[in-house]
Amino acid sequence: MDGNLDRDVVSPLPEVDETDIEASLRPKHLSEFVGQPKVREQLQVVLESALRRNRPPDHVLLSGPPGLGKTSLAMIIAAELGAPFRLTSGPAIERAGDLAALLTSLTEGEVLFIDEIHRIARPAEELLYMAMEDFRVDIIVGKGPGATAIPLELAPFTLVGATTRAGLLTGPLRDRFGFTAHMDFYDTDELEHVLTRSAQLLGVSVTGDGAAEIASRSRGTPRIANRLLRRVRDFAEVRADGVVTSQVAHDALAVYDVDELGLDRLDKAVLDALVRRFGGGPVGVSTLAVAVGEEIETVEEVAEPFLVRAGLLARTPRGRVATPAAWHHLGLTPPSSPSAGPGSGTGGFAGPTLFDS
Ligand SMILES: Nc1ncnc2c1ncn2[C@@H]1O[C@H](COP(=O)(O)OP(=O)(O)O)[C@@H](O)[C@H]1O
Ligand SMILES: [Mg+2]
Repeated sequence: MDGNLDRDVVSPLPEVDETDIEASLRPKHLSEFVGQPKVREQLQVVLESALRRNRPPDHVLLSGPPGLGKTSLAMIIAAELGAPFRLTSGPAIERAGDLAALLTSLTEGEVLFIDEIHRIARPAEELLYMAMEDFRVDIIVGKGPGATAIPLELAPFTLVGATTRAGLLTGPLRDRFGFTAHMDFYDTDELEHVLTRSAQLLGVSVTGDGAAEIASRSRGTPRIANRLLRRVRDFAEVRADGVVTSQVAHDALAVYDVDELGLDRLDKAVLDALVRRFGGGPVGVSTLAVAVGEEIETVEEVAEPFLVRAGLLARTPRGRVATPAAWHHLGLTPPSSPSAGPGSGTGGFAGPTLFDS
């Protein structure tokens, strides 16, 4: 990940020094988790039935863009089950042996959270198949023709995987999750709710309008909402009487250069390249990524989901296309015969986009 995105106030990725504060604002129980009503309800049923049967629930896959609450939800699953929680990530598991050691150390009912599970090394992933299905691993001892596989029983556990790219998961891995939840961007009301809750925890006074102003510029993302709240609080303490009103929020966000849609630097760079350098598209995602100096993965996972959701960018079979709303957002006039396909021209939070792949 490019380091220059770290200090961007509206980046959906966590800042380096943000972990403690994030931990303190994390909802601890399902009832405190704001929004995602469908995911919450389905998960509640899964967890409750597991508790009744006194068995670990099915493995859970959480997918969605960064900052929407995947890690929080994984921790909540353990808390609701009263089970211990273990955290690791796909990139941290380089060899099958690392994973085998981890799996054999799990206690009964433990929740193992593997973040960025799509980046797990292939041999480790293959080991995971049997572990998930039969709670068993084969430990290979020795090398060459003399090598033997020693089967080891595992304590029944629940795997919670998180991914920003469900599409990159292999079929066999995806199939082994009994429950898949897709997390979507939050609407303004939900973000207001997140902000009110966080303000209470942080001891910040915020008016309803103040929360609404921050919510509308939070890019549909609770992590960003919480970060903007802290910046606005600082501003309120220094430049006003400490109360976050809509005026204070408005002035503070102007100082921090937060766009009225909450677009971050990468979002803006992508839109800018798309419109100014490629005439609005269609252009392939790899070309677009080169133009903004980012990896294709970052453009696809971090920037595009929100741009699509906000009705600014369309993914078409011929490539990425800027909608008229994107041109307007940059203060430009779209060409008279827009190259954008159907679904374009819908500013704000549009409904499902036809070409969202
Ligand atoms: N539904 C939610 N309700 C309240 N706060 C949330 C919610 N989702 C996320 N947050 C906040 O946003 C921050 C980032 O969430 P996190 O679970 O780390 O996201 P992800 O793992 O998807 O990147 C958390 O610290 C938490 O305070
Ligand atoms: Mg996370």
